[in-house]
Amino acid sequence: MSIAEKAEKVKRQFLEELKELSDDSHQIKLFKDKFLGRKGLVSDLFSSLKNLPNEKKPEAGKILNSLQKFTLKNFNNINSDQKSKEDQIIDITLPADPYFVGGTHPLTQTLEKINSIFIKLGFSTIYGPEVDTDFFNFEALNIPKHHPARDMQDTFYIKDNIVLRTHTSNTQIHTMLNNNPPIKIIAPGRVFRNEDISVRSYCLFHQVEGLYVDIDVSFADLKGVLNFFAREMFGENVKTRFRPSFFPFTEPSAEMDVSCIFCSGKGCNICKNEGWLEILGCGMVDPEVFKSVNYESEKWTGYAFGMGIERIAMLLYGVKDIRLFYDGDIRFLSQFS
Ligand code: PHE
Repeated sequence: MSIAEKAEKVKRQFLEELKELSDDSHQIKLFKDKFLGRKGLVSDLFSSLKNLPNEKKPEAGKILNSLQKFTLKNFNNINSDQKSKEDQIIDITLPADPYFVGGTHPLTQTLEKINSIFIKLGFSTIYGPEVDTDFFNFEALNIPKHHPARDMQDTFYIKDNIVLRTHTSNTQIHTMLNNNPPIKIIAPGRVFRNEDISVRSYCLFHQVEGLYVDIDVSFADLKGVLNFFAREMFGENVKTRFRPSFFPFTEPSAEMDVSCIFCSGKGCNICKNEGWLEILGCGMVDPEVFKSVNYESEKWTGYAFGMGIERIAMLLYGVKDIRLFYDGDIRFLSQFS
């Protein structure tokens, strides 16, 4: 038999026995010794090389090298199969991986609290678009082009006429154009302003808008609803005050403060020793706004208010940096779950 024939025979025998080989580690060792050991079949063939005439040695050497490679490779494969089987054995005595349960984001928790208070008072929740036309965000709210009030809100423009809404007040206009009064809605959502990012401001934040339109709505109604809101949100003993302010879409306009919830109004570093915290803007719907949605401004009256959810969440939970709400840092978020 030539070396090539002998090599072929060993290869076939190797493959047959490999097929039959069990998982038993002793059997595997015997198999290895038989073919690949120092005195195994492959080694035997190498030893027989020396009996060949010199000119046949290179050819035969090549054949044996490839036989050795082949058998080694196939043997190593079963070895790693075996190893991965061992890896799969589960040690049930090991402690389990910790299992983290997610929670509601603090902004969502705050929003849900705000919503539930106004829902109790008969408001329904409406969602307006975050990308809107100049008309809904500005024009119909009595903020014409080149009006200085536009400087109050640094706007992100998508196109000439299309903006990322700078406040939720655009939803007032959508709702009034699509419905007849009476209207009693809150509109929560995301708003965008091109402001420098800092501890106090971010390029996006959230607001809740309120709008009530009916016959004979008065500023006293507005104060009543907002006083109720403040007590439900911050506790029975909270005081409120209304300071005159300006918004183009309300007349008269006001800002509502609550007595500082950290020092009960005595003065501390959070209220900058004033004893009061500013919470929201509000006012009576300006007749110009009614005109732009074709409501009879002699007949209908209404109030509107708008508040920042981040601002309220920061006060409720004592959060000092607004950016924490957007970082998604599990160490921060897990404190609220
Ligand atoms: N849209 C105002 C703002 O973003 C808030 C507001 C809403 C004021 C409704 C009055 C009435 O600052």
